[in-house]
Amino acid sequence: MQEALYIIDSLITKHTGKGLSDLQKTIIVGTIDDKTYNKIGEDNNFSQSHVNKVANQLWHQLSDILNEKVNKKNLKWTIEKNYKSNISNATNVLDNNNNENNQAELKEDLREIPYLNSFYGRSEELTNLICKILEKKQSRLVSILGVCGIGKTALTLKLIEQIKTNFNYLIYRSLNTLLSLNQITEDIIEFISPEPTSKLKVNKFNQLSLLKSYLSNHRCLIILDDVHKIFSKGKLAGNYQSGYEDYGEIFKIIIQIAEQSCLILVSQELPLELVYLSEEHPYYSSLLLTSLGESARGILQEKQLLDEDKWADLINIYEGNPSYLRIITRVIKELFAGSVNDFFAYSQPFLDDEIKSILQQQLNRLTEEEKEILTVLAQENKQVSFSQLQLLVKVADLINNIKSLGRRNLIKKIQLNGKNQIVFEISPLLRQYLLNK
Ligand SMILES: Nc1ncnc2c1ncn2[C@@H]1O[C@H](COP(=O)(O)OP(=O)(O)O)[C@@H](O)[C@H]1O
Ligand SMILES: [Mg+2]
Repeated sequence: MQEALYIIDSLITKHTGKGLSDLQKTIIVGTIDDKTYNKIGEDNNFSQSHVNKVANQLWHQLSDILNEKVNKKNLKWTIEKNYKSNISNATNVLDNNNNENNQAELKEDLREIPYLNSFYGRSEELTNLICKILEKKQSRLVSILGVCGIGKTALTLKLIEQIKTNFNYLIYRSLNTLLSLNQITEDIIEFISPEPTSKLKVNKFNQLSLLKSYLSNHRCLIILDDVHKIFSKGKLAGNYQSGYEDYGEIFKIIIQIAEQSCLILVSQELPLELVYLSEEHPYYSSLLLTSLGESARGILQEKQLLDEDKWADLINIYEGNPSYLRIITRVIKELFAGSVNDFFAYSQPFLDDEIKSILQQQLNRLTEEEKEILTVLAQENKQVSFSQLQLLVKVADLINNIKSLGRRNLIKKIQLNGKNQIVFEISPLLRQYLLNK
């Protein structure tokens, strides 16, 4: 109880500069004890309506801070189950680091950073990342992975906001424009170098050693987004396009020598050398983003959708993918005046053109064999084991193609309970798209 109170108090203090009032503390303690507002009021000589008002303001504040809906019913659960250890860790780490570094100046190059819409949930992911990056500077190389639209960039922008004061240099680049390793290296050197680089006369040969020295002597936070763009289309996941094979150099530098810096890769797939880098590696960590879950309700709330009892179904159908949910919410608002029930009367799952285009973009990256495997999985409409698949698809190199689909998170591998068998399945939306294409 004291710990929960302490966590909430430090969160509120950190965000508002002011700790909890006595009544707020009483409300939290009462709520955790499952007391009604009426009982809390009676015990403390306040009217029920006053307790109600103060409590609602407090849940509102906490919802904003934690990026997920907090109320009387879920407070205990939210604090205990998800955040207790994480948040206290993360706040300690943030506080300690901020104290150590509050004199540090921060130079930012965020010219390519996209605009961040409203943001919900992901508190657990954020606190995990913060702990890994700041605590003992464990993770020098971090990858944030997931399918298109699942919220990788949005999460990364939130993360940057929270950790940037721990670094002296912050640079964000998207590889959408297919920047070569040389260009990135030049950009970073020019950004950090105290001298104009023209004066430094850096040739390609010693560019990387200059980069090494900068990254190990300064605290740099580098974010490379859309890393999948530098991989070949039509080849197995994580194979560089020609001309980009040297990218691995920068990962090596970061992992091997750049103690003070951190490189965050944001991508739909990992370069092969990182796939095989053990998860146990002390300086590397990776996070796979999946459904936004319950927190996606915020997106539906924003557009004031109706029929709240159907929201969970809607989130489920669209796989908790915030991008799909933003698209569908717009459709429901514009064509069904916000009624989820009316929308559900239409055949489901409905694939909006924009969603189709997102799915197609991902399919365009696959090998012909991978496409064939997905089509067979779509037609089968059930979980399929490797030996069944072997009978159904005649492709060379079946194992490597299945592994590659797994790395792109386009198939799910499931170990059947109580059996020594693994089966594969694809998402219902992708299935629907493949069947109607
Ligand atoms: N946690 C979130 N809460 C609300 N909206 C989100 C969240 N994450 C992503 N979005 C929205 O979903 C869309 C896709 O997110 P984005 O981060 O660009 O996905 P990705 O980088 O994985 O392709 C954007 O419109 C973004 O604002
Ligand atoms: Mg993105």
